[in-house]
Amino acid sequence: MRHARFRPFALVAAAALALSACSDGTGSGSDAPDASTGGGDGGSGYPDGTITVIVPFAAGGPTDTVTRLVTEPMAAELGAEIVVQNVEGAGGTVAADQVANAEPDGYTVLMHHIGMSTAPTLYPDLTYDPLEDFEMIGLVTEVPMTFIGSPEFEPSTMEELIAYVEDNLDTVTYANAGVGAASQLCGLLFETATGLDLTEVPYDGTGPAMDDLLGNQVDFMCDQTTNTAERILGDEVKAYAVTTPERIEALPDVPTTEEAGLSDLQVTVWHGLYVPADTPQEVVDALSAALKVALADDGVISRMAELGTAPVAEDLATPEALREQLESQIELWRPIIEDAGVVAS
Ligand code: MLT
Repeated sequence: MRHARFRPFALVAAAALALSACSDGTGSGSDAPDASTGGGDGGSGYPDGTITVIVPFAAGGPTDTVTRLVTEPMAAELGAEIVVQNVEGAGGTVAADQVANAEPDGYTVLMHHIGMSTAPTLYPDLTYDPLEDFEMIGLVTEVPMTFIGSPEFEPSTMEELIAYVEDNLDTVTYANAGVGAASQLCGLLFETATGLDLTEVPYDGTGPAMDDLLGNQVDFMCDQTTNTAERILGDEVKAYAVTTPERIEALPDVPTTEEAGLSDLQVTVWHGLYVPADTPQEVVDALSAALKVALADDGVISRMAELGTAPVAEDLATPEALREQLESQIELWRPIIEDAGVVAS
């Protein structure tokens, strides 16, 4: 088993989360004008209306959290209204398909993660090509994952978790956000590393999965620190391990999977922004420039640190870096997923 790549980022300390409609005024509609007319930057007139950023998972989850945090300063920089819209389903592929087929005018943007690179292998009949049907805007962040258990779940350590799952294979439940989600991929790596076959309970996102886990309706899951860090620090859930080579600053007491003897179970969830293919270059440039400004924002940096992650370095918040990441990750995950024999049904 090959390891997922992990890029160490400078992790720093904390602030509050953005509201749902990020703008210089609250908005609900999306009256997107034609990008080729009107004023704005470089004479393109973009943006001259509401921009909708599509999140492929339910509200309140980790991808939603990152999106709402980053799009507020992006809206301020662009001088436009940004509305975040959650389009759940099929591990993120429903949202990606919607954006692939949207008008290439810069008013429909996709925030997606590592799932963009696993979908081509998991979904043989995928209706879009992640590399051909999108223009890349840039990488955003790379989030560690954590194994956590419900408050009443018996195991207290990663070692106890593995033994307990082995002894209770038919009854233990593992929550994830569907085939193609990061939580599903992490579950797949757990199965490969332990040889145990999990009983998976799919949700539209790990936001709603967390609600059921907190309510002891499901036993455990592997989820991004942007959704777990505060609940771990608040002793609301049991924490077993983090999926990075070293412990992370936000969760110093949580051991790594390697410390628990699972050195092959390492994965982080990189996120990127995309627009439909053939979106004008000046629009791509404007969005990429606004992304860089947002990732340098003190509020974004401190809030991400509180949630166990960090913005990517400036030279990674670029179309070229996202395309390179996507290409290499598609190649990395294909044999791992094929070896595990997992295909969306
Ligand atoms: C979410 O936002 O719900 C997650 O990113 C889902 C996942 O990929 O596990």
